[in-house]
Amino acid sequence: MHVFRYTVDLIKHLETLQGETLGLVPTMGCLHAGHLSLVAQARAENDQVATTIFVNPKQFNNTEDLEKYPKTLQEDLSLLEEAGCDLVFCPEPDQVYPSDFDAKVSLGGVTRALEGASRPGHFDGVTTVVSLLFNLLRPHNAYFGQKDAQQLAVIQKMVKDLKYQVRIVGCPTARSADGLALSSRNTRLSEPQRAEALSLYQSLCWAEQQILTGNRDVVQMKEHMNQMIEEEPSTAVDYISFADPHLLEEIDIVQGETLVSLAVFVGPVRLIDNLLISPPQ
Ligand code: PAJ
Repeated sequence: MHVFRYTVDLIKHLETLQGETLGLVPTMGCLHAGHLSLVAQARAENDQVATTIFVNPKQFNNTEDLEKYPKTLQEDLSLLEEAGCDLVFCPEPDQVYPSDFDAKVSLGGVTRALEGASRPGHFDGVTTVVSLLFNLLRPHNAYFGQKDAQQLAVIQKMVKDLKYQVRIVGCPTARSADGLALSSRNTRLSEPQRAEALSLYQSLCWAEQQILTGNRDVVQMKEHMNQMIEEEPSTAVDYISFADPHLLEEIDIVQGETLVSLAVFVGPVRLIDNLLISPPQ
């Protein structure tokens, strides 16, 4: 596995891969089985698999959150080697953003709701870095988790609007056996908080069951989900959303495919999760 810290070395290496398909998995490191499921899918579909590990300062709107972001590069590299990754780009910030860096890729509507509303500027940081990584690595396929459903929708819209020649692949959310979506933030939960965090997925499964058996009333379902979660002593709901999965516009009545997503504080840790639900026709 080739590991690159410098952009010039990465570019030199990429020039030797003519004619081979390249699958890209962008990450911020602290890898877990969710990230590795993306690498596995990329491995199955491409000649070459590249993973990037870069804690992108532009997508953090809170410097404390950025500083606290866990860094586990040596473990990450071992996991990637085991997973059959061919190359890793793990640059220092100045390789990505030299001191005179002055560009921004910014989308409209799809970035404003949900995570965008709670974390102003976050998606500009994401689209700027992902755009830069696409230009640098020129992947044929790029892999993103459904876990971050809005991020996936934003990247799909960016690729469509700016006509990037890359296929975006959305990969299913990896969960632990009890349903909790894998996230590097889970390591910050105490044992009782982790047990409380199960209410996120449980409330999503409840909504799925309701929709599959004919409930279309979003207000009523949101209220019930809110109760299910806030019954736990240290949870606080940030948002519960029922929206169309592409533009993320909120709906009142379930008609077609619906993205049910939520963000919840469990103690100090903010967790997100979602399910994509299709009502029976
Ligand atoms: P990060 O949070 O490290 O996530 C990297 C990729 O792993 C994302 O596409 C995310 O959706 C996916 N992922 C995380 N948890 C997952 C899970 N439980 N199941 C499946 N996939 C999961 O998302 C980012 O980094 C950054 O915003 C990035 C795209 C790298 C841009 O900086």
